[in-house]
Amino acid sequence: MATLLHIDSSPMKEASVSRHLSQTYVENWKKSHPGGRVIPRDLTSSGLAPITGEWVTAVYTPEGERSPEQRTLLAKSDELLEEVEAADELAIGVSMHNFNIPSVLKLWIDQVVRSGKTFAFVDGSPKAMLKGKKATFLVATGGQYGPGSGLEFLNFIEPYLKTIFGFIGITDVVFHTAGGSAALRNGANRGQFLLPHDRAVAALATERIGALA
Ligand SMILES: Cc1cc2nc3c(=O)[nH]c(=O)nc-3n(C[C@H](O)[C@H](O)[C@H](O)COP(=O)(O)O)c2cc1C
Repeated sequence: MATLLHIDSSPMKEASVSRHLSQTYVENWKKSHPGGRVIPRDLTSSGLAPITGEWVTAVYTPEGERSPEQRTLLAKSDELLEEVEAADELAIGVSMHNFNIPSVLKLWIDQVVRSGKTFAFVDGSPKAMLKGKKATFLVATGGQYGPGSGLEFLNFIEPYLKTIFGFIGITDVVFHTAGGSAALRNGANRGQFLLPHDRAVAALATERIGALA
């Protein structure tokens, strides 16, 4: 069964642009996969905490030697990894916060980029362990960082996400960015702002689905 992992990271709920666009992607995906499964994962209500020294020690303790406490410490990471492993595709809503991804998304990355699970060191070099998955990022930024803006260098979202997803083997990644959402705070019409992005994201979903077949 085709499976899509739908992740959101904006704290803004109904007002969020990235949530709106990730939902558009999911709705279009569902149309093409009537029997498909969507796994929702809202990172703002997932109780993710920063990793600790005990957590790191648990990760590097061989599985068969872990104490019950260590297994409990890794339970959330295991749950999140199961979701990633079950998914053929990931659709991820991302807000720009301080030129980068929201901290809850970084906490999720810290839980799923895990030695022995999604990457391993082989002969001293890192080796990605995931295969055949793709990710689509639906990004919202208050300002404009696109080509020609002169501010491309401030967009740390794309290079970081490309790098870290590539590190675990997800190299088929696409970004759609709704730039300039700050206009919404200054009275711009939300429907008009979202319309071209909804169209582009719907087209992107169809294109990505086509690529899956
Ligand atoms: C804590 C915080 C930091 C932000 N930092 C930036 C920033 O560095 N650059 C930018 O263009 N917009 C920034 N913004 C504006 C958001 O990127 C913008 O509101 C975007 O629409 C957020 O996505 P969302 O609507 O899905 O929440 C910031 C907003 C917040 C709340």
